[in-house]
Amino acid sequence: MTIVGARPQFIKAAATSAAVRRAGISEVIVHTGQHYDQSMSEVFFNQMGIPHEDYNLGVGSGSHAYMTAAILQGIERLLEEVRPDAVLVFGDTNSTMAGALAAAKMHVPVGHVEAGMRSFNRLMPEEINRVMTDHIATWHYCSTQNAADNLVREGITSGIEVTGDVMTDAVMQFSQKAVFPPAVLADADLQAGRFITMTCHRAENTDDMTRLASILAGIARISASTPVVYPVHPRTLSRLTESGLCLPTGVIATGPLSYLDMLALMKNSAAILTDSGGIQKEAYLLGVPCVTMRDETEWIETVESGWNALSGADADAIAACVEAAMKPGTRATRTPLFGDGHAADRIAAHLLAELTSSKSTI
Ligand code: UD1
Repeated sequence: MTIVGARPQFIKAAATSAAVRRAGISEVIVHTGQHYDQSMSEVFFNQMGIPHEDYNLGVGSGSHAYMTAAILQGIERLLEEVRPDAVLVFGDTNSTMAGALAAAKMHVPVGHVEAGMRSFNRLMPEEINRVMTDHIATWHYCSTQNAADNLVREGITSGIEVTGDVMTDAVMQFSQKAVFPPAVLADADLQAGRFITMTCHRAENTDDMTRLASILAGIARISASTPVVYPVHPRTLSRLTESGLCLPTGVIATGPLSYLDMLALMKNSAAILTDSGGIQKEAYLLGVPCVTMRDETEWIETVESGWNALSGADADAIAACVEAAMKPGTRATRTPLFGDGHAADRIAAHLLAELTSSKSTI
């Protein structure tokens, strides 16, 4: 049983679902409904060829406690009905943690894809979800050796597999299909290599008006001379509307984009400005310098390699980091930090071996 619910998980599941099915494992997909807009959910299933979900819990938005409790109840019911041999969860959302907890309590083994990531900042809801999920999962599929080392430091020593990152699989599979400029931006007159792509949606940036205002001030300095394309996340849109804060001149705002449109934009950007976890990796994989509007990152390899800089939410730091990122540079040659594009096949092969051996011992 594969459990997904939020946008980044659909991208990861596109890779694993294909690999699991290639390996001959029967898969039941459960969508928790955490993300429900067409542009945040369905478009990914359609564009990336993910089989349509078998069940949708329809939990929608709400507080962390509401979402977690609704997913726990829904998954428990489905586990009783479907009786899967294993559950697969992804990343660090409420859907990940609640899905893993429901399964672990019913003694169903849990595989955690993207295990061992740590920001070491427990103020992030995602960090709580990562730690909880890793400590109840049976198999930990790590993107990097660094992630595996984090688990060992927390006393988790069994079931660790360094597989590479399934997002590398997705970038390698889909980036050739990404057409620039995306049709939704046909009128924007974007020149390849002469604009910035930005995203901003993390709770710590959007729900704190001082930080959000400071981020907008930083962007204003960049967008005065370089177009900044900004697909606005629904969370940020509602915060902007509530607060009366405005996007600066020179920002080209769109709704949430599909995976292929996002890849096309990122690939052709002079630099990427983000607070997303996955986009930091995608920037590295596409060879585009990245500036991350956070105080720490789980993906430290991208910073150590010189391809990513942490600016926090300070306006001056954001403007300075983006200016530095846009300079043709002395960055290290990129090495395959996040695997070779076959992470999902490794996960599927491991799952098949585990499922086969557990059946043969019954
Ligand atoms: C989740 C994850 C976060 C991930 C993010 C990706 C947790 C704790 N956090 O945050 O790690 O980076 O998704 O987007 O699980 N909304 C819509 N339509 C939708 C989805 C959301 O309008 O399809 C609105 C909701 O009403 C809500 C806000 O956007 O106000 C929440 O969005 P988002 O930050 O994506 O979702 P989370 O579930 O909080």
